[in-house]
Amino acid sequence: METVLITGAARRLGSMIAEELAALGCFVWIHYRTHEREALILKERIIHAGGQADCVSADLTEIDQIDAMLDHIAKSAHGHLTTLVNNASVFLPGTVMSSSVADWDLVMNTNLRAVWYLSARFAERFPMAKRIITLGDAAVANGYAGHALYGLSKFSLKYLTEQMAAAFAPIIRVNLISPGFVLKGESEPAEIWEKRSTRTLTDNDDIVRSVLNGVSFLMSDPGMTGSELILDNGMRLMSRMGSVIKDNRH
Ligand SMILES: NC(=O)c1ccc[n+]([C@@H]2O[C@H](COP(=O)([O-])OP(=O)(O)OC[C@H]3O[C@@H](n4cnc5c(N)ncnc54)[C@H](OP(=O)(O)O)[C@@H]3O)[C@@H](O)[C@H]2O)c1
Repeated sequence: METVLITGAARRLGSMIAEELAALGCFVWIHYRTHEREALILKERIIHAGGQADCVSADLTEIDQIDAMLDHIAKSAHGHLTTLVNNASVFLPGTVMSSSVADWDLVMNTNLRAVWYLSARFAERFPMAKRIITLGDAAVANGYAGHALYGLSKFSLKYLTEQMAAAFAPIIRVNLISPGFVLKGESEPAEIWEKRSTRTLTDNDDIVRSVLNGVSFLMSDPGMTGSELILDNGMRLMSRMGSVIKDNRH
């Protein structure tokens, strides 16, 4: 049986990935930090639908909490992890000039250091480990001036993915899924979100489904590694090639 740990899975995109993988027959470890209630409700929903799940908590900026979480999973009846989904992230506003050292530590330790450390321990400790899927962000291709540290951390994940794919081969396949604008940031004004999220090349209005399809594909594909799946409806090309884009609908 596939046993999957999904970080930051209590709500939003992580919870949708959890339900998708549970529906595919995986045992799902729902990791959360603050949203325990949502994690428990999600667990009940998965079980009610005939799936299997449990919850585990850790602040991923704390190395000893990551170790304790993995100890807890390893000692449990569902301790044979096969897949790690690095989904947890912090989306902190700030430019290179306005960001503080504390901002740097928070963003880098959550979005980059935790992905590296958790992935390395997963590869080392779990003999059934075979795939790592990390959530990047397609918008880093266009710069992320207003979320500079977030952009830098997500940009670096591509490099880390390649490094880990090489280091963990041939046993563990490591890939990055980089979505476009999927869900409105919680502090983001609705009008800015509307403007950003509709600047795409295709009319697909269910980008969540595209991301879930990407996760399912990586669960089944035996060969892809060190790669990036960009699932952004062509968003990143809008600013680079806007002048040649025309509406070809008939
Ligand atoms: N939303 C989008 O449109 C979009 C677009 C492109 C890429 N992505 C990527 O897709 C992933 C999911 O996006 P999202 O918007 O659903 O994410 P999100 O809501 O910003 O964050 C997901 C979860 O990360 C957890 N988290 C944050 N800091 C943590 C820490 N120090 N320790 C442990 N957990 C921590 C939180 O768990 P608790 O709530 O339990 O504290 C949070 O619920 C992210 O990697 C994001 O960068 C999203």
